[in-house]
Amino acid sequence: MAGWPMASAVAESSRRRNEVRRHSTDLADGTKRDPGRQRIARMKTRRTNRETILTPDQKRSNGFVRHLAVVGATGAVGREICSILADGRLRAEKISLFSSSRGAGTPIRIGDRQLVVRELGDDSFDKVSHAIFSAGGERSRKWAPFAVGAGAVVVDNSSAFRMDRSVPLVIPEVNPATVSRHDGIIANPNCSTIIMNVPVWPLHRVNPVRRIVVSTYQSASGAGAAAMRELETQSADHLAGRSVKPEVFPHPIAFNLFSHNTPIGDDGYNTEERKMIDETRKIFAVETLAISATCVRVPVYRAHCESINLTFENPITADEVREILATAPGVKVVDDQAGNHFPMPIDATGGDAVLVGRIRKDASQPDGRGIELFVSGDQLRKGAALNAVQILELLTS
Ligand SMILES: NC(=O)c1ccc[n+]([C@@H]2O[C@H](COP(=O)([O-])OP(=O)(O)OC[C@H]3O[C@@H](n4cnc5c(N)ncnc54)[C@H](OP(=O)(O)O)[C@@H]3O)[C@@H](O)[C@H]2O)c1
Repeated sequence: MAGWPMASAVAESSRRRNEVRRHSTDLADGTKRDPGRQRIARMKTRRTNRETILTPDQKRSNGFVRHLAVVGATGAVGREICSILADGRLRAEKISLFSSSRGAGTPIRIGDRQLVVRELGDDSFDKVSHAIFSAGGERSRKWAPFAVGAGAVVVDNSSAFRMDRSVPLVIPEVNPATVSRHDGIIANPNCSTIIMNVPVWPLHRVNPVRRIVVSTYQSASGAGAAAMRELETQSADHLAGRSVKPEVFPHPIAFNLFSHNTPIGDDGYNTEERKMIDETRKIFAVETLAISATCVRVPVYRAHCESINLTFENPITADEVREILATAPGVKVVDDQAGNHFPMPIDATGGDAVLVGRIRKDASQPDGRGIELFVSGDQLRKGAALNAVQILELLTS
């Protein structure tokens, strides 16, 4: 079935979203204005393979979602969303999990709920209040407007709507206020963009950043679950002396690295690099911000690293940068020069923070306006799943 036209979808969903907002506010306030909540409070906790009714205590917390759909639940990002939900980060009265026909039937445990993934279809968004899409741009373009038309607010992990002027592109540590300006769809930025923006933004607020030159070291899991399996298989094959057959990536990923596997544009930048440039300008709301990026895929299982060179409007010292980043939300300074311990994927994996180290004055900028950073962040988590959940928390708290 074709998706509904965006305009009618938005109009129809407006009333439903207001209902959801009222519902959420009631829960955050702990009031008894919502008759639905009172009804649920009288019910015993019960579970089916689609949903769980929470206890009244659980429902009083912030970040309550009435019915959450996770599209792409069997993928690398979708699994991470389920893991975050299992940690109780977001309270959802009902959770429905979707994939293609391939993943349908997969059991996924979220806390004490045993759920079963279903194939995405026309009835998937009935009574869904919020949806997180992590199933690729094509699926988002087709199904996100459809979900909005059915009354859901969508947080989309794909690049389908990111540069659409009517769609907020949100990193909660950077531009949380923009979240309310949505027409049903909110976009999660590109993973490398998020990992760069989280530590650069608090510096930019103190001393405007005039130029960014970034080089990425991007893990295999950035290309999804199949790419993670490819790194495992190729590593084993390589060590066993067997021939290596690239399938997901264009080149061998084990014991190798290569320029990011996205198409090169007329300007010589690949799509990943172009996303980092365009999305950062939108998120920082500085259309003229000078940025250059070089994106590289490396044989790391999980968590991206980035070397970031910054030029500020005014001189700034490494100590000032350390001091600002020490209290910056979503950032952890890992800058042990004596111990030579700096951000590493192995330390960033599974964590929420972007690790920042190698903080030093750029020796090539004698006017004191240049700073070098090296960062590492779990792109499945802060670069995708966690950022999406944080957006839902912003919407519902
Ligand atoms: N990986 C990252 O670090 C990362 C970071 C930021 C953003 N993203 C974005 O997040 C999205 C998902 O990435 P991923 O890495 O999780 O990919 P992935 O591991 O390949 O997972 C893709 C998911 O989409 C589902 N899917 C595929 N075709 C579908 C269809 N026709 N209908 C319904 N579901 C379908 C898959 O289900 P089946 O099991 O049925 O195939 C699977 O659950 C992409 O848009 C990606 O650009 C990824």
